[in-house]
Amino acid sequence: MTQYINGREIAKSIHEEVKDEIEHKRLDPGLAAVLVGDDEASHIYVRLKERAAKRDGIRFERFHLPDTTHQGELISLIEELNNRKDIHAILVQLPLPKQIDADEAILSIDPIKDVDGFHPVNVDRFIAGQSAVPPVLTQAIVSMLESTKEKLAGKHAIVIANSPALFAPPVATALEPLQVTTDWSRVDAPEYKERLKAADIIIVALGQPGAISKDMIKEGAILIDIGTSKVDGKVIGDVSPDVDNYAAWRSPSPGGIGPVTVATLMKNVLTCYNKQENRL
Ligand code: GUN
Repeated sequence: MTQYINGREIAKSIHEEVKDEIEHKRLDPGLAAVLVGDDEASHIYVRLKERAAKRDGIRFERFHLPDTTHQGELISLIEELNNRKDIHAILVQLPLPKQIDADEAILSIDPIKDVDGFHPVNVDRFIAGQSAVPPVLTQAIVSMLESTKEKLAGKHAIVIANSPALFAPPVATALEPLQVTTDWSRVDAPEYKERLKAADIIIVALGQPGAISKDMIKEGAILIDIGTSKVDGKVIGDVSPDVDNYAAWRSPSPGGIGPVTVATLMKNVLTCYNKQENRL
């Protein structure tokens, strides 16, 4: 029987920890979310983050810029937020409109306020084992794997993504202390099928419904589904339903990585806050 990783339960316990820390230590963290344009999914995600922040006791400010915003206007706003003492964490919701270079926008966030852990300073420091704001998605993946209570030591993971060279190295870094080795691949890479079939843990972020099916995986594998696609108005992941009764564990989509990522973002608000207040 394939067991489901309950993202909502994991998220709940992370939110409780964040809320308790804020209450007991009487902290006053502030999170700013910057949205450019009218991408419907982005507005939904930011609303979820706002609701979660307020529930956990985090001050939340939303900045909505029009679709026609220029690079310079966005960067001016980010610089203003970098300079505000009452804002400890900044996120720029992606994707951004075409005229804006997302890499430049992320580079303009002060790394100590980069709550997503997207800034190259944070990614590089994290990979080097130095103090950093750790990437949210990486931490969420680790929380999901640990929630299975399976013996992870000695297992081999593969990250399947469209640009795995950007996303996988922090995952490999985070899994190393758990004695999990990590490989990564695009779907068009040599020996992709053989490498996928050999993996004990598959982390997939393609945005292609059904990209991972029963015939492609090892029996008893653990599947972390990060893909989200909208089909007939419904959100679905990258993993085909036919893995049920063949995989040991799978994370559902929705109800898997999404809520854990939002909760982990709140945990990172506290990381940013503590770094600024204590100059860690
Ligand atoms: N767009 C899709 N996922 C994310 C995320 O985790 N952070 C930000 N800032 N934008 C996103």
